[in-house]
Amino acid sequence: MEKKENDTLILAIESSCDETAAAVIRNGREVLSNVISSQIALHTLYGGVVPEIASRKHIEKINQVIEEALSEAGAELSDMDAIAVTYGPGLVGALLVGVSAAKAISFATDIPLVGVHHIEGHISANYIENPDLEPPFVCLVVSGGHSHLVLVKDYGEYEIIGRTRDDAAGEAFDKVARAIGLGYPGGPKIDKLSKEGNPDAIKFPRAKVGENAYDFSFSGLKSAVLNYINGCQMKGESICEADIAASFQKAVIDVLVEHSMHAVKQFGYDKFAIAGGVASNSSLRGAFEEACAKNKVNFYHPSPIFCTDNAAMIGVAGYYEFQKGVRSNLDLNAVPNLKLGER
Ligand code: KG4
Ligand code: ZN
Repeated sequence: MEKKENDTLILAIESSCDETAAAVIRNGREVLSNVISSQIALHTLYGGVVPEIASRKHIEKINQVIEEALSEAGAELSDMDAIAVTYGPGLVGALLVGVSAAKAISFATDIPLVGVHHIEGHISANYIENPDLEPPFVCLVVSGGHSHLVLVKDYGEYEIIGRTRDDAAGEAFDKVARAIGLGYPGGPKIDKLSKEGNPDAIKFPRAKVGENAYDFSFSGLKSAVLNYINGCQMKGESICEADIAASFQKAVIDVLVEHSMHAVKQFGYDKFAIAGGVASNSSLRGAFEEACAKNKVNFYHPSPIFCTDNAAMIGVAGYYEFQKGVRSNLDLNAVPNLKLGER
């Protein structure tokens, strides 16, 4: 890799949950490397992420992952203009590994440090493959820990207009998958199985939540699925896992699409994007493509590899923060419940 005079290179680090990841980003949108060491196989044994195991694995992997990201990019540490690192929200022990590594590198090399919000990273993943995408736009962030409807007013400027009152969308996928015996992580497994099922086979509820038209609630839907399964078992009827998966998935997607399109119309935006692990769901993408076309809104989404946790998205978000002059000090700490737009 030849670094040109005006190039800005960011080394990005992500360790907020169960992926240890590092990436090198050129000029905010070009991914020179994107290394992800996933712990999924390990946590599958326990049916979900075990925080203490996650932290220990991050410590084992972090240096190797960073070295790989630099060598795949054909770059040296000394080529980097900034180190971007996720400092929240997430698991505190997991976050601390990435934050500590980034601080150590910054201290040793004098390369500026930029703390990045994990959700800002997910949203920014949309910039990687959509060179024409610029704020303002509406973004639906649906991951294992978050379901937010966000107005992206400018780079780094966000207003959350809707959020989940209980479970996140990904959490609902994981819990329903467990109930029908699919194991962890449930999202991709429900996505696959639902292709063999009938989405209209079972009428699961579409939750309406109080006064805010943009808020979500998924715990009632999860209970409805569990009740349906128990009911069948009590009556001695067999269940069709594929129909349950397809009908559950449709109930989630219907609500996400309805609230998102309502927001786009009410706020008068002509661009809409999705982000987060659940955004890699194939039916969800199809439903949004259709809805956006109908509403004459441009639709953006990252490739699946940039939807689930990765460091490239942190590098992109970090680039725009860096350009705005944001710098973190060596007292940067992990903030497990960091709010979007706060520093
Ligand atoms: O964004 P992410 O990797 O981590 C968080 O920041 O939470 O999201 C992980 C979540 C998990 O709940 C997983 O089941 C879900 O995203 N997920 C999916 C799909 N792939 C991952 N949900 C539905 N369909 C998928 N294809
Ligand atoms: Zn995430």
